[in-house]
Amino acid sequence: MTLEEISVQDLNPEAFIKEKGDEISSAVGQGVAVNALSGGVDSSAVTMLGHRALGERLKTYFIDSGLMREGEADHIIALFEDLGVPVEKINAQNAFFDALKGVVDPEEKREAVTHTFYAIVFADLAKRCGTKYVLQGTNYTDVEETVAGIKRQHNIIEQLGIDPEEQYGYRILEPLIALRKPAIRALGKTLGLPEELYRRPPFPGPALAARVIGEVTPERVETVRRATSIVEEKLADTGAFQYLAILHQDRVTGIRDGKRDYGLQIEVRCWESEDAKTGSPTRLPFDLLEELSQSITDQVSGVVSVTYNITGKPPSTIEAL
Ligand code: XMP
Repeated sequence: MTLEEISVQDLNPEAFIKEKGDEISSAVGQGVAVNALSGGVDSSAVTMLGHRALGERLKTYFIDSGLMREGEADHIIALFEDLGVPVEKINAQNAFFDALKGVVDPEEKREAVTHTFYAIVFADLAKRCGTKYVLQGTNYTDVEETVAGIKRQHNIIEQLGIDPEEQYGYRILEPLIALRKPAIRALGKTLGLPEELYRRPPFPGPALAARVIGEVTPERVETVRRATSIVEEKLADTGAFQYLAILHQDRVTGIRDGKRDYGLQIEVRCWESEDAKTGSPTRLPFDLLEELSQSITDQVSGVVSVTYNITGKPPSTIEAL
């Protein structure tokens, strides 16, 4: 890989903002660019960077894929409204669930999400706004893991030899591509993001689809969405790098109201990591694990088993897909 990383120690955020802002302005000229905001650190930082460079000529959208967390769209849109950045919500739930219907293989699932984002949703938005530019927060780790063949990160296009202009009809601007998470957090802080955003734990591009093993249906996403809310609430004070819930495909025998219940299994993961490249499970107190299990089995319909992942990355990865 010829791309050179800029580490958090080497990053001068003000100079970086100026340099990348100039690059965005000169690429886009007097026209407009579009970008999708998910509320993650990367897309939030790139939205602020693009907004500084282009002002109202950056059209920012929150894509409601049906795969996001509870209340996420409205919360993020409100935070950006406070920052003076208008964000429009686009309902694309049907497009994503149609593409995911019957898909169980992890890489095919990632491909279905990628294809829906780029070939359907972004292509439509770019056409609607009359632009050839999509601004996106691809980071160094995304490129590295995709090129190494570990996982196809949802946002990697050109590094796989795909020409987005030929394939989808627009160019992709990726100003954060030389940075990893710690540098993007530092940049986000300088760009004026609230702490809640620049400190946000990472969340995968394929969203909750990356946390459903087996078919991704609206019902199965709802199960993992509920479990995710509980895990995020209970583990928020751990200071861990990332914590998540996964819905397994296999069912296991459990007991409910004195009767056999062949139910669902949720796996909880909680990670210590610097940059997601490697990681180790957090040594959570057993009382907290029991509390998590109790809340999930009480509040998430159909769940009879909760497990905690105790394997590091490698050989595990942070997400299940
Ligand atoms: P893995 O599962 O590869 O995850 O150990 C490493 C980090 O990347 C996040 N992740 C993604 N981020 N698009 C993203 O933008 C993706 O397709 C994707 N898949 C995983 C993951 O949450 C972790 O922080």
